[in-house]
Amino acid sequence: MKQLESTGLQSHNSFSVTASCRRLFALEHTHDLAELKKLQLQTPLMLGAGSNILFTTDYPGDIILNRLRGRQIIDATDKHAYVRVQAGSDWHKTVLWSLKQGLSGLENLALIPGTAGAAPIQNIGAYGVEISDTLELVEVWDNKNNSARMMKAQDCQLGYRDSLFRRQPDRYWILNITLKLSRVPRLRLGYKGLKQKLDSMGVEQPQAIDVANAVCSLRNEKLPNPAQLANAGSFFKNPIIDNQLLQLLLQDHPQLPHWPQENSKSKISAAWLIEASGWKGHRTGDAGVSPDHALILINYGKASGAEVWQLAENIRSAVKNKFNLLLKAEPRIIQAN
Ligand code: FAD
Ligand code: EPU
Repeated sequence: MKQLESTGLQSHNSFSVTASCRRLFALEHTHDLAELKKLQLQTPLMLGAGSNILFTTDYPGDIILNRLRGRQIIDATDKHAYVRVQAGSDWHKTVLWSLKQGLSGLENLALIPGTAGAAPIQNIGAYGVEISDTLELVEVWDNKNNSARMMKAQDCQLGYRDSLFRRQPDRYWILNITLKLSRVPRLRLGYKGLKQKLDSMGVEQPQAIDVANAVCSLRNEKLPNPAQLANAGSFFKNPIIDNQLLQLLLQDHPQLPHWPQENSKSKISAAWLIEASGWKGHRTGDAGVSPDHALILINYGKASGAEVWQLAENIRSAVKNKFNLLLKAEPRIIQAN
């Protein structure tokens, strides 16, 4: 495994906060896993592109950047193709590659930053689709018994921004994922604004690539590009609450956006709760809330991870005081013990 000279993490997290770790490695070949024991790693953490993590402090242990790259079709039928993607491959490039192969299933997930290996960690989702819709297999390195094994997607406890991997952080390192993609497109255009965007683009009979283009366009309108304004996408998950509680909230706040879920529950908009609590566009020093989207926290320059986290805590308290709801952070938060 390649050990990097610098242990600085600023260029390895999309919040662009300064932090360091004990040692920093890059995993480029799976055969490097055979020498793991020799390295005597301390509380190792695997990182992809760092677009869903906040370092509020230095990381006391070793960090391994997943740089396993490559993707190929490993099997195909008349209707489907099975695609294996190495964990360190760029996610958006994987989406574009799949479309070039004439395969559909990933188009609604275009332009999500990060690596393919991180995609199952929080079951990435956007525009009405989650990776659980196409995920078949995940090959992991199990740190408990130092061996690789294949897991079926249905054993990964994938839910809304949730998985077995999030519940047991650092036990499994994802080495590659296998996706079942379709040769016969079944486009999903139900998400608010997607069909209208295609109409505005003059697309009458959309193909999968048109959907990807429309999704990219919508995302570029709403979400700041981390290369220009450092952020980690949505900072909080949308709360999922009982329908009874939703009815109570709607009595006082009829405009609260909500979407039905299974088991008499509904998802409600965290962005709306934050905006209604008065935090949209707020800024303390270099840590702020996007004026364009209340769910995006931004490091405008030199904010520390601790300052971004303090802002998040203040927002959480405000939403708790106003609505009696506790928002949960979406990114992984690295804090001092
Ligand atoms: P990292 O930030 O590197 O890691 C995230 C977590 O996964 C960490 O806990 C890390 O330890 C773990 N991890 C990473 N790789 C591995 C691996 N190979 N094995 C084991 N553990 C691993 N997410 C969505 O779901 N939908 C969106 O629409 C969306 N939009 C975004 C928009 C912007 C502008 C940004 C910055 C982020 C957005 N995100 C979105 C969040 C982010 O893109 C995803 O969570 C993505 O999957 C993170 O990939 P990464 O490689 O950067 O993960
Ligand atoms: N809204 C506000 N104020 C705002 C922004 C939005 O009130 O400042 C309301 C609007 O009414 C809007 C609703 O919130 O209709 C939902 O907004 P949006 O469509 O932007 O979706 P979101 O719930 O904010 C979720 C995901 C995104 C994903 C989009 C598109 C979560 C936590 N976030 O955002 O994922 O890209 O839907 O599907 O589920 C991420 O996880 O990092 C992420 C960006």
